[in-house]
Amino acid sequence: MATQANSSKIFHRPELARKLAQQILHVSPTSASSSGVFLAAPRRTGKTTFMRQDLTPALVASGALVIYVDLWEDPKADPSDVIVTSIRAALAQNEPALVRLAKGWGLGGAKVGGVEFSLDRVGLGKDVSLVQALSALSETSKTIIVLIIDEAQHAITTSAGNDAMFALKSARDELNSNQHGLRVVCTGSNRDKLAMLKNSKDQAFFGAPLINFPPLGAAYVKWFCDHTDDLPARLDPDMVLPLFERSGHRPEILGAAADELRFDFALEDDGVNERFLAAVESQIAAANDDTMRVVHSLTPIQFAVLCVLAAAGERYAPFEAATLEKYRIAANRVSGAETAIEFPAVQGALVALQEKSLVWKASRGVYAIEDIGLVDLLRNGGYLDGL
Ligand SMILES: Nc1ncnc2c1ncn2[C@@H]1O[C@H](COP(=O)(O)OP(=O)(O)OP(=O)(O)O)[C@@H](O)[C@H]1O
Ligand SMILES: [Mg+2]
Repeated sequence: MATQANSSKIFHRPELARKLAQQILHVSPTSASSSGVFLAAPRRTGKTTFMRQDLTPALVASGALVIYVDLWEDPKADPSDVIVTSIRAALAQNEPALVRLAKGWGLGGAKVGGVEFSLDRVGLGKDVSLVQALSALSETSKTIIVLIIDEAQHAITTSAGNDAMFALKSARDELNSNQHGLRVVCTGSNRDKLAMLKNSKDQAFFGAPLINFPPLGAAYVKWFCDHTDDLPARLDPDMVLPLFERSGHRPEILGAAADELRFDFALEDDGVNERFLAAVESQIAAANDDTMRVVHSLTPIQFAVLCVLAAAGERYAPFEAATLEKYRIAANRVSGAETAIEFPAVQGALVALQEKSLVWKASRGVYAIEDIGLVDLLRNGGYLDGL
């Protein structure tokens, strides 16, 4: 019932889900996507909603067993624990798989189907590895397993998380060659970060395709206008679409603007569209101002490091001589004076920027801008010119 109520509040994309599911499940011999598929889209644009409400049902309808893991559900937990917990939960719902593992291992614990087995025995470095756990699930369910990892970039911020990704790679190789198959679908809000999971040979999912997840568009805007029928007049989708695009395709901006109008009791019928336009503009400005306030509170060296990283993206090399020169240019520009830049100060600035959640660091020392939207803000403000 709850799902029913929730699902009527969102706009569904069944056709996109069906196509994507097909792509994930039926891999052409000339494609690398049996390695996994990576989907990137900016923050707050509806990734999680789509994965849970549209893609999961489409995969299930095609006969797949879906395991969904959100690595941001508990940001304090080690990503490896979150992955292991979700695989244990899938096992707990599959008694034949548990019985199979218990018989194979003779492990003590709660009684399942006449044998004893404790789920604590499943995990990295435990009696039952993730490969064995997923193999048991595959053998007993006799169907392809799809593991969806939401905010997958979080996995490579800890060494246990990296280990979990390698364990999943082994499971994928085992299940794809000897069982009913395993597909790993990773999503994330930052393309640069997500790319780190697959670009280097020593990453578990080397070579997997990285796709820009299609944002919500005209069909969503029409649905939104149809569902704001409590306003005195109907919103015009042709006027709302460019506003939605300018808001970075974020449904919450439109939602907050509509709420502003709902509480404006003096609002007249013929002023609705103009008033909505102004409300969206002010929501966009407020969101940007909020981010820029944090940026303007940085020291010159922190600001310089942020801008140079934003400009370089994947090519960022924090401690190279050429990068040092760029820090100097950026810091001089903001402070209006000659600023000496030394490595310890850069190191300190990177730590401070991580603490302010502006910069993100993978466990092997590679950096990225936390929210890719900030790069556009800095670029539009002219702060990245010449860097
Ligand atoms: N298809 C949709 N129909 C209606 N509202 C939506 C839809 N998709 C997303 N939203 C709304 O947009 C907001 C962000 O959605 P969601 O959490 O799915 O995005 P996300 O990209 O996963 O965000 P994050 O980057 O924080 O993980 C939520 O308030 C959600 O209700
Ligand atoms: Mg999400």
